[in-house]
Amino acid sequence: MAGRIVKDDIETLRQQADIVTVVGDYTTLKRAGRSFKGLCPFHSERTPSFNVTPEGNFFTCFGCGESGDIYDFLMRIEGLEFPEAVEQLARRTGFSLRYEQMTSRERRAVGERSRLVAVTAAARDYFTRKLYDEEGRVARDYLKSRGFGKAEAETFELGFAPNRWESLARALTADGIDERDLVTTGLAVRNDRGGLRDRFRGRLIFPIHDPGGDVIGFGGRILPEIDYGDFDPPKYLNSAETPLYKKNRVLYGVPQARSDIVRAEQVLVCEGYTDVMALHQAGFANALATCGTAVGVEHLRMIARYASTVVLAFDGDAAGVKAAERAWDAALEVGDGGTGAALDLRVLALPEDQDPADLAAQLGADGMRAAVADATPVVPFVIRHRLATADVSTEAGRTAALQHALEVLAREPDADLRREWARTEIADRIGMSYGFVAASAGRQGIDLDVHEGVALRTARSTARDRGAVGGGRAHARAKLERSVLRAALQQPDLLPDEWYELTEDDLTHPRAKAVWRAIDGAGGAGVELTAIVDRADDDEVRTTLRELVLEDDPELADDGSAPAVVAGRVRRMLADRIEAEEARLRATLAELNHATDRDRMLEIQRELGELNRRRRELTGSLEG
Ligand code: UTP
Ligand code: MN
Repeated sequence: MAGRIVKDDIETLRQQADIVTVVGDYTTLKRAGRSFKGLCPFHSERTPSFNVTPEGNFFTCFGCGESGDIYDFLMRIEGLEFPEAVEQLARRTGFSLRYEQMTSRERRAVGERSRLVAVTAAARDYFTRKLYDEEGRVARDYLKSRGFGKAEAETFELGFAPNRWESLARALTADGIDERDLVTTGLAVRNDRGGLRDRFRGRLIFPIHDPGGDVIGFGGRILPEIDYGDFDPPKYLNSAETPLYKKNRVLYGVPQARSDIVRAEQVLVCEGYTDVMALHQAGFANALATCGTAVGVEHLRMIARYASTVVLAFDGDAAGVKAAERAWDAALEVGDGGTGAALDLRVLALPEDQDPADLAAQLGADGMRAAVADATPVVPFVIRHRLATADVSTEAGRTAALQHALEVLAREPDADLRREWARTEIADRIGMSYGFVAASAGRQGIDLDVHEGVALRTARSTARDRGAVGGGRAHARAKLERSVLRAALQQPDLLPDEWYELTEDDLTHPRAKAVWRAIDGAGGAGVELTAIVDRADDDEVRTTLRELVLEDDPELADDGSAPAVVAGRVRRMLADRIEAEEARLRATLAELNHATDRDRMLEIQRELGELNRRRRELTGSLEG
C-alpha cells in the first residue's frame, strides 16, 4: 500500500469495474431481470438467494444479509481492508491508481518497501526458475516423494535454492539489484571479505506472502539427498526479522487460503509449511501456519479479519496443549481489544506422530471434515488435559483436580459456557455434584450463578411481546410504504399520477423517509439506480435501497395486474393522508364556537367535503 489513493480514482474505478464479472469469479451468476442471481459465496445454500445488480453496483444476499458494493464484496470475500480492496480491484481490471501527495518521509517509506518487495519477488522468481532446471531435480524429486506435484508448486510458488555460497546473490546483483537490499531483505549476509553469502542454500523454498500477495520472506527446508558436508543445518530456516518480515505477524499461506477461510468462516491453523500444502491438497484450503513461532496476538488479529472460528491443528501432547494455552491467552487479549466478536478457539488434537496431512489421509475427506467440525473448544480441551493426570479415586485427588480445573474455568469469559463446562467437563468428569463445583467456584470468585441470565432473558422476551401487541397497524403501514417504494425503484413506469402528490411526510417510517429523500434528491423515481444509491444518507439507507430493488413482490405478476396493484397502493397512501387530514379538521371543528367562528366553520366543512370526495375517489378506484 502506498499513501492515500486519490478519491476520484476510487469512484471512477467503482463505476467502471463490472461487479458481475468480479463476483462471477466466486459464484456462478445467472441473469434475472435487471439483476443476476446465484448461490451466495458467503454462506452455504442450495437455492440462490444472492443477487447482484450491475446497474446499481451492489450485491445483496437475502439468506445471510451480506450486502454492499463492489468494494464491500472484495473486502468481505478476500478479507481486505478498504484500500487493499481498491488496489486489488485496480490490479484485476488493469486500472492504474493515483496516490495523493505524500510527505517526503512517507515517500521514502513507500519507496523503500516497494524496492524491497521487488527484491523478494526477484528472489522468488529466481528460486522458482531453479526448481525447474537441472539443479532443481533434487527438490522436485523430494516434493514428488511427499506426494506434492505441480499444482502445489504453482499455488505456493515453491522454489529451490542451490547448495552454493552465492548463487542467488550473483544472479540478482547481475540483474542490477543493490547488494545492500539483498542484505536488508535477509537473503544474503556479508562474508568476512565483504562479499555476499546466500542465506538459503540447498533448500526447498517456501515464499511467504503478506495478505496483499507481496513476498515478504522465505522458509527453506533441507533436502535429504543434499550433502551439507560437515555442516549440520537446521531442518527449516526462515527469514530473519527484516523491515518486511516480522515473524510475530506473518502467517504462511494467507493469499492462498483467504477466500476459502472466508467461505468456511473458519481457519485451520497448523504448524508447518508442508501441513498447509497437504491440507490444501486434501481439500482444506482454509489452512494457514505460523512460521516457526507460537500463535500470538498479532496472528489472531490478522485471522480475525477473515473468520471468527479458529481451529488449531496441534499435537495432542504436552507441547501441543501448551501451544493451545498460549494461543488462548492471545485470543483472550484479542477478544478484549474491542475488535469485535471474540474468537472461537478450538483444538483438533492430532494423534501422536501424525501431522494434519496424515490425519486427513487416514480419515478421508468426510472423516476429516467431521473431525474439524468436532474440534474441542479450547477450555474443555485444556481442562481435559489437566484432569487426564488427576487421581480422582481419592478425596484429596478430587480436590486437587477440581482446583486445577477451576483455574482454567476462571478464564472462560462467557457465563453460559462457564456453567456448561462446570457441569460437563468438571462435575461429570471428576464425579462431583454440580452444586459442589458451583459452591467451590463461588468461593474463588468464579460466578456460576444462573439468576442473572434468567432475569435477562425474561426481560428481553417481555419487551418482544410488548412490541408485537399494538404494533399491527404501524406494521401494516410500514409494509405499504415499503411496497410503494419498492415499486418506485423496481418499476417506476407503473407509478400512477398520484405518486407525484406524495411528499416525505406521507412516509412514517424513518428509513422509508430516508429512501424517499434519496429518490427525490436524485431527481425522482425512474432515474438511474446509481444516482439514487449515491443520494443515500448512510449505509443503512443504502442497504434498504438494495433490499427494495431486489425484493420479490409476488403481487407484481406479469399477468397485467401489476399497474393496478401499484396504483392502488399509492392511492391507499394518499387516502390515508387525507383521512388523517379529515380527522384533524374535525377535531378543530369540534373546538370552534358556533357563534363567533361561523365563517371558519363553514370553510372547514367545505374543505372536509372536498377531502371526503377526493378520498372516496381514491378508495373507490381502489375497490373498483
Ligand atoms: P516440523 O519440524 O514439525 O516440520 O516444524 P514439519 O512441518 O513436520 O515439516 P516436514 O513435514 O518434516 O517437512 C514445523 C514448523 O516449525 C518451523 C517451521 O516453520 C516448520 O514448518 N521450524 C521447524 C523451524 O523454524 N525450524 C526448524 O528447524 C524446524
Ligand atoms: Mn511434517
